[in-house]
Amino acid sequence: MAKRALVIGASGLTGGALMRTLEAEGWSVIGTAMSRPREGLRPLDLGDGAAVSALIHELAPNIVFLAAALTHVDGCEEDPARARRINIDGPRTCATVCKAIGAVLVFYSSEYVFDGEHGPYGETDAPRPISVYGQTKLEAERAIADIGVESLIIRTTGVYGWDRTSKNFAMQVWQQLSAGERMRAPSDQVSTPTLVDSLAEISVRLVELGMGGVVHVAGRRRFCPPARLDICPRPRTG
Ligand SMILES: NC(=O)c1ccc[n+]([C@@H]2O[C@H](COP(=O)([O-])OP(=O)(O)OC[C@H]3O[C@@H](n4cnc5c(N)ncnc54)[C@H](OP(=O)(O)O)[C@@H]3O)[C@@H](O)[C@H]2O)c1
Repeated sequence: MAKRALVIGASGLTGGALMRTLEAEGWSVIGTAMSRPREGLRPLDLGDGAAVSALIHELAPNIVFLAAALTHVDGCEEDPARARRINIDGPRTCATVCKAIGAVLVFYSSEYVFDGEHGPYGETDAPRPISVYGQTKLEAERAIADIGVESLIIRTTGVYGWDRTSKNFAMQVWQQLSAGERMRAPSDQVSTPTLVDSLAEISVRLVELGMGGVVHVAGRRRFCPPARLDICPRPRTG
């Protein structure tokens, strides 16, 4: 298989890790950015169907990793129309164009397709999203399946890793404590946090193994915060 990939959302946490992993493994890879342009990345708005189609046709990749999304859960509640345009219409366009050119689509979905009452969840558990973000992710999964493109849908959760521009939980802890501030965190969420470097590596492995369908990729350890998580910086000494 020719190793030519497009990473949509390469300026994000997962997209950035995918770029590093693919490059290290000898893939020819091009990435896109939206509001955080970076040298070498192509600008792309996932909500602009014509632009998405033009870029995929121009680059003719074998694999498209779709790591871009409106990931701000509260932002999706505030503007559901925008959430649908980016999180459903965008993936639908990608799937249609990938099918037309014979490319594989790797789509990133979320634990938010479940209601969170009885985790941990397996691939055969019935989804029941209770948020706009979760609904858009599930609808995108279904649109991709309906279009019939060769695809891999990776559901993941609590992605964290080192990226100064990212607001992932680990970076928030680092930023707050570095600033000498206390940090409070929700105590009612149980998760299996996923290291982004592992997520990227596993994604590429799954593609190379020819895996398709829905696959859950998450960290092994259950993170169950204490009743009250209140992290404070260690007093400076010396
Ligand atoms: N983080 C998690 O815990 C988690 C859990 C489950 C599933 N997921 C899914 O995994 C994927 C990656 O998540 P992440 O946390 O790595 O994302 P992230 O760091 O928030 O990055 C999001 C990416 O999407 C791009 N983007 C946003 N709006 C766009 C638009 N209109 N057009 C084109 N690009 C746009 C951003 O570009 P700019 O920054 O340049 O604007 C950025 O590259 C997402 O699909 C997310 O839903 C994440």
